Amino acid sequence: MKIFLDTANLDEIRRGAEFGVLDGITTNPTLVAKENRPFRELILEACRILRGGVVNAEVVSTDTAGMVREGRELASWHPSIVVKVPMLPAGIRAVRLLRDEGIRTNVTLVFSPAQALLAAKAGAYFVSPFLGRLDDIAQDGLGLLREIVGIYRNYHFETQVLAASLRHPMHIMEAAKIGADIATMPYKVFEQLFQHPLTDRGLETFLKDWAKARESLGEIVEPTAPKIGR
Ligand code: E4P
Repeated sequence: MKIFLDTANLDEIRRGAEFGVLDGITTNPTLVAKENRPFRELILEACRILRGGVVNAEVVSTDTAGMVREGRELASWHPSIVVKVPMLPAGIRAVRLLRDEGIRTNVTLVFSPAQALLAAKAGAYFVSPFLGRLDDIAQDGLGLLREIVGIYRNYHFETQVLAASLRHPMHIMEAAKIGADIATMPYKVFEQLFQHPLTDRGLETFLKDWAKARESLGEIVEPTAPKIGR
């Protein structure tokens, strides 16, 4: 499963990229608006940091012609860019037109298997079911993901399923078990994936025992420690 960060914050993208396990990012108008930076400059800097990783950038028009125009513009900025298009009838028309021009799209704001079926048939590169936002209204986000993955398998659709609006590590693990192609998550959730109290406790004991026995260990490499949180 590919890991994307759901952020437009360059510090988070830089920090995430350093681990070498990041495959890309998703942004949306809300995330970009928080950064207070020119959109093009921000997206191009993200492409530079991610060196070949995918950068999802979203259109804000809601008519087909506008989405196609914006999609062409976004895709012309950098080959790493995938154009996010909202799940609207006009959006599905735009996805098909952009696909025919070889432009990759991500159909976003997907909340039903029927919408995901249309996105795949239109030739979307990614489809983004929003799990957390469904959970928020007491519907089953993971259930939706399971249905979409099942339908895509039945018909061998090439559209990749990008599990979005993920809020905690269990969402990521369940998405992996279901077989999502990609999980996108806030930086905070990405950090949580590293953590386990038994890892911390185990390491503490190893280091204490090592320090106690130092004298008898002969010539050893001096241990170093990273800065807090790294
Ligand atoms: C995905 O592309 C979206 O940007 C994102 O996952 C939305 O998540 P939210 O529901 O936490 O805003």
